[in-house]
Amino acid sequence: MTRDTNVAINFAGNVFEGAHPIILLADTELLRKVLIKDFHLFTNRRRIEGINGPPLNHGLFSLQNDEWKRSRSNVSPTFTTSKLKDNRNDFIQIMVDQTETHNSHLENTDKVETPTKQYLALKDDEIIGQALIFFIAGFETTASLLSFFMYALAVNPHVQEKVFQEICSVCIDENGMNDISYEKIGQLHYLDAVINETLRMYPPVTRFDRESSVPCELGGYMLPTGTIITVPVYWLHHDPDVWENPEQFIPERFYSSEKLKRDPLYFVPFGIGPRSCVGMRFAIQTVKLAIVQCLYQFEICTCEKTTIPLKFEKALNIFPQDQVWLCVNKRSL
Ligand code: HEM
Repeated sequence: MTRDTNVAINFAGNVFEGAHPIILLADTELLRKVLIKDFHLFTNRRRIEGINGPPLNHGLFSLQNDEWKRSRSNVSPTFTTSKLKDNRNDFIQIMVDQTETHNSHLENTDKVETPTKQYLALKDDEIIGQALIFFIAGFETTASLLSFFMYALAVNPHVQEKVFQEICSVCIDENGMNDISYEKIGQLHYLDAVINETLRMYPPVTRFDRESSVPCELGGYMLPTGTIITVPVYWLHHDPDVWENPEQFIPERFYSSEKLKRDPLYFVPFGIGPRSCVGMRFAIQTVKLAIVQCLYQFEICTCEKTTIPLKFEKALNIFPQDQVWLCVNKRSL
């Protein structure tokens, strides 16, 4: 579907996937309703054949309604600031620890509370399901962000130089010591803007969806139960009415003053609302650590084989049509 057609049917781009009609929703006010205000009506994603059996059926991605709520409240503490600060990326251990703490708490509390609290703790097969979905949802997406980031730096050397200078001034002391603590990483504001601009131009997940769980009204239309609303992430990130010169890599768009001028619904690489990506902060932290380690030692450049601009496959995730070639030079420190 072309951008022009989409603009014309901003609310209801009616598209068929196989025999199934879906609504491609690009109106940010209506998106706010679906993803945030009326979340209770659109809590679930559509069920995807192939990931409904065990153990993936226990993973956050495909759980529905109360089962999702219960798991999400158990899984969220895995990604708290203190766990990120300690670089604790053994998710299975964190979830097992939580369950053990929970169980010992149960043994020490009165029996009246027990049934509800037992209902809250994650069982072993659920922990396995969550761990597996973390791997599936987190591995390819994070790798994609890192790869496109390196590409963007190679084709925009002035941006790379600015990122490098910021890393040197924040993380490297006069003895050349590399301090990449949680606090230092948090001070790399330009790097943060460059990562966001990479996520805008090359969102690893180009769309996601919600399904209505009851008949409900949206933008003056009555939607039957089971209506699928698709959020066109790539499209929102490239809307020329919101992003001036959307095909240009301009990290300054993500300075705080610029962000205030935009509706946040135009930048949703991790989704938004109660069902947004649970691993977002972990992903950003991981990527920043990798970037600092890499850019401090190496410079990324284009070479004869580098394709500029990139061309993409038509897929759910973002894939370049051809292999992406870059050149890596060791810095003399
Ligand atoms: C750059 C990296 C990543 C991107 C761009 C990304 C993007 C997304 C998006 C777009 C969604 C759907 C949000 C929605 O429906 O509103 C999602 C969901 C999810 N992501 Fe990520 N993700 C990333 C990394 C990770 C990592 C590292 C993990 C785990 C360690 C993770 C775990 C999940 C899970 C479990 C869900 C489902 C959440 C739920 O239904 O409650 N993601 N992610």
